[in-house]
Amino acid sequence: METIFTDNDVYQDTFDPEEYLNTYYNPKSGICVVDGTLDLELKKLHETFTTRGVKGKTLIDIGHGPTIYQDLSACEFFDEIIGADYNDRSREYYERSLRNEPGTFNWDNVIQRVCDLEGKGMSVEEKKKKLENTVKKTLQCDVLKSNPLEPMVLPRVDCVMSLGCLECASSSLNTYRKCLKNVSSLLKIGGHLILSEILNCSSHLSGGKRFPAPALTKEFIRTAITETGFEILDLEVIYRTYDKDQYELCNHDSTVFVLACKVKDA
Ligand SMILES: C[S@@+](CC[C@H](N)C(=O)[O-])C[C@H]1O[C@@H](n2cnc3c(N)ncnc32)[C@H](O)[C@@H]1O
Repeated sequence: METIFTDNDVYQDTFDPEEYLNTYYNPKSGICVVDGTLDLELKKLHETFTTRGVKGKTLIDIGHGPTIYQDLSACEFFDEIIGADYNDRSREYYERSLRNEPGTFNWDNVIQRVCDLEGKGMSVEEKKKKLENTVKKTLQCDVLKSNPLEPMVLPRVDCVMSLGCLECASSSLNTYRKCLKNVSSLLKIGGHLILSEILNCSSHLSGGKRFPAPALTKEFIRTAITETGFEILDLEVIYRTYDKDQYELCNHDSTVFVLACKVKDA
């Protein structure tokens, strides 16, 4: 019988940035590429900062992991992006990718797609420089703490983005609600939350080990965000078609993308 690991530290210790990038973002076989989620997330992020007008001074990207795709549109609309992740290896890989170091994951196709969406004729190299200059620092963070950036205390920011992180940190729906409240504390009233999570997932593989997931649903996410003091401005579910091999790696059936405005402290 397959063992399911429940210890968060085991997950953190086994998290391998290269394996993660290959599993989810490999241009030919990556789960998010094959099921079209990456493409749709890029479009939703573009729309968030253009049509929906989200912009400001500071955006914190919480649980950025080893990926940079999520910051490519944001870097045109914020003076600074602060990266924050629990895992040292994720932060190191993210910083190396921003510096475009040899041997890091090649995001050129994705960067070109974002430049095409923006339609300003920006080159891939120009976009890389823009992103590198906009991410001013990365910080250690733990969304399970009431101040996730402890011991640092930052002035509240205009935008918090967290894609696929809170559910990794949560062993239960109750913990998920607490994580949401913790990251919300970093945000000004009137500021924006950009959130994405996989839905109806019971387990996923990391470093060859299988981990449980809190099986989030669209209804749960909608209620949890609203109860944390947000007004939801956009909520879209991106569905995935069934594929046995891909479901073995991670058995979610869809991904939710949410844009919400903070109206009060919960
Ligand atoms: C599934 S990856 C998501 C990476 C990326 N945002 C993406 O869209 O592919 C989850 C990230 O959340 C981070 N993470 C897990 N638990 C955390 C916690 N308690 N606090 C902050 N980050 C955490 C992990 O280190 C990892 O980098």
